[in-house]
Amino acid sequence: MDNLKERCRDTLRANDRGGYTVPTAGLYPFQWLWDSGFNALGWATFDEVRAWLELTTLLEAQWEDGMVPHIVFHDRNTGYPLDHTFWDAPGPVPSSGITQPPVIATVARRMLERTRDRKQALAAVRTLYPGLLAFHRWFYRARDPEGTGLVTVLHPWEGGMDNSPVWDEALARVTPVAMTVERRDTHHVGAEQRPHQAEYQRYLALVLAFRERRYDPARLYRESPFKVASVAINAVLHRANQDLLALAQVLEAPDAPEIEAWLTRGQQGMASLWHDDLFYSRDLVSGHMIPVRTWEAFMPLYSGQATPEQAARLEGTMRRWSEAVRYLLPSTAPDDVCFEPRRYWRGPVWMPVNWLLAQGCHAYGFMDLAVRLKQDMGTLAERSGLYEYYDPLTGDGLGGGTFSWTAALLLDWMT
Ligand code: GLC
Repeated sequence: MDNLKERCRDTLRANDRGGYTVPTAGLYPFQWLWDSGFNALGWATFDEVRAWLELTTLLEAQWEDGMVPHIVFHDRNTGYPLDHTFWDAPGPVPSSGITQPPVIATVARRMLERTRDRKQALAAVRTLYPGLLAFHRWFYRARDPEGTGLVTVLHPWEGGMDNSPVWDEALARVTPVAMTVERRDTHHVGAEQRPHQAEYQRYLALVLAFRERRYDPARLYRESPFKVASVAINAVLHRANQDLLALAQVLEAPDAPEIEAWLTRGQQGMASLWHDDLFYSRDLVSGHMIPVRTWEAFMPLYSGQATPEQAARLEGTMRRWSEAVRYLLPSTAPDDVCFEPRRYWRGPVWMPVNWLLAQGCHAYGFMDLAVRLKQDMGTLAERSGLYEYYDPLTGDGLGGGTFSWTAALLLDWMT
């Protein structure tokens, strides 16, 4: 255990670039939004000053309209093919032009509640709070302009799970670009563990379409061929709203009524995504529910949006999945036609997923499942190393090695 703790700390130190942490050297040489949130939690277990710095560095890249970009390109000389020149985005620091799951208000609250130096933590929260509020406001203005209570993801990368089968049908509508950009990922990792080329060319096509529209949020929302109300991002935002509200109360900020209104709308929005016995994302171009069973279906446990009856159904489903694999939680249902145990977001076990859902199971009283999600991740890390993701059948470590969020969230659990 202590040995594992030390390896986790070493991983964060090795990936520290001074003020921000790269997910892993080589494969991902920049700062990623939700990675940074999770990494801050790891830093907070042994260096709180460094942990707060992770978040302030991230918010330095916040756009004027409130968006926090999903990649911040601090280092301009990495030779990474999709660098800031490709995005050509208007932020104050070179960045991408889309966002990622908004975990940072949740992270800030957790750090405040666990701090050993409340005075310092309160000062940091006071500095961060306006940016966090502006980020959430941006989500509602830019990604739910119709006030449905559900925010929209306009790019698979925004959902944080690039090649999830949830996106397949919506992505098929995007015309792939003819251009070939060198794939940095497949130099580092076997192609069988990464998205297919055809998907990649559609990811790029969306970026080019957004760039052409100068990332104008109103036009993107109206014109993007890819528009999905994702269960996961809405659950993450809902939970982050609860945490932002708690921060507003601590700071005696006057924004509580606005945040409470988001929570009410968010609850109604999520209720509309329940179908039979799971939550499903909705394709907002076709208007159809997306009937693919992935880890997202359980996320309303994390956000507290599942009713007790829904939670009981989710619990049953999670138990069935657990009988079909050796390690929890496969990112896609093991009996789904889309299940591929080694291909990125189509089956492997991911640390952030286990971390989020262990909290959800715990909150609803499914203690043995919460314990299993933690234990399996610990076993995977001990057995295979601190990988980006893992095969749920064999336990093999996949993707990048010495991976920051795996290390960081294990530290958060072990402390
Ligand atoms: C991949 C993951 C994404 C993550 C990024 C950096 O793109 O899908 O969730 O933020 O890598 O680790």
